[in-house]
Amino acid sequence: MTTQEPRAYGSTELDYNTYLKVPDLLQLQLPQSDPAHHDELLFIVIHQAYELWFKLILHEMESALELVRADEVLKAQHFVKRVVEIFRILVPQIHILETMRPVDFLQFRDRLNPASGFQSAQFRELEFLAGLKEERYLAFFKNRPELVEILQKRLAGPDLRTEFLGMMKRLGLEIRAVYQHPEKHLEVYLLSESLVEFDQYLGLWREHHVRVVERIIGFKQGTGGSSGVNYLRSTTSKKCFPELWDVRCELSKES
Ligand code: HEM
Repeated sequence: MTTQEPRAYGSTELDYNTYLKVPDLLQLQLPQSDPAHHDELLFIVIHQAYELWFKLILHEMESALELVRADEVLKAQHFVKRVVEIFRILVPQIHILETMRPVDFLQFRDRLNPASGFQSAQFRELEFLAGLKEERYLAFFKNRPELVEILQKRLAGPDLRTEFLGMMKRLGLEIRAVYQHPEKHLEVYLLSESLVEFDQYLGLWREHHVRVVERIIGFKQGTGGSSGVNYLRSTTSKKCFPELWDVRCELSKES
């Protein structure tokens, strides 16, 4: 067996910029305002950064889902935990936008209309893959049949909530028993709590997002046609894993 020598630096064409396609990446921020408003770059970069993280989250969730299907409890938890850590930093990131004065946003907001967060396919994929499947959101992708197809596949495909419940059945476990006696079912308990944390941080993201939105546009209508803040507030209590939240009401102090 031959061992491979580490490549000497500079021995190939591959460098930081080639590998990461940095020049390509830096070409992708194209303001709509003309002349470009100073703050539009912030607005574009923050959305693109979120979309990149969403891509990674989907990648990690797909692995977690496969591992849940294979009853590999701790291995699945490893990936869910990573998603939680990503979300932990995605929540405070939204506040960078509060450095944008409402009056500055108005200088280019009209140019974005009718583009809207409603059209973030990856955000919807993420919800669908977790198990929060609301078909009504497909309506916002009418002009993008390729995205409708992706989302329809996610709707019809496996999701973490259903697969988790299937795994519990195969293992002969009730959620209540796991939460009543966490130490007896430690691995499943850890996975369950990571899924709860996922819900927690997604919910926190929604809450922080709506607060930022209120601060910047008040109660104006959204560019996607919703009522804006009132609609967004109505989403903050959504849960991907309701069974894992409901169990809290069923526990007793008896061991
Ligand atoms: C100035 C900053 C922002 C404003 C004023 C804003 C405003 C809004 C409004 C009003 C909605 C409701 C839908 C509509 O009618 O358009 C919405 C939805 C949404 N926004 Fe934002 N947003 C901002 C920043 C962001 C950022 C940085 C992201 C990151 C990806 C984001 C992602 C989303 C998503 C995913 C939705 C759909 C939420 C759902 O339906 O549950 N938004 N936004």
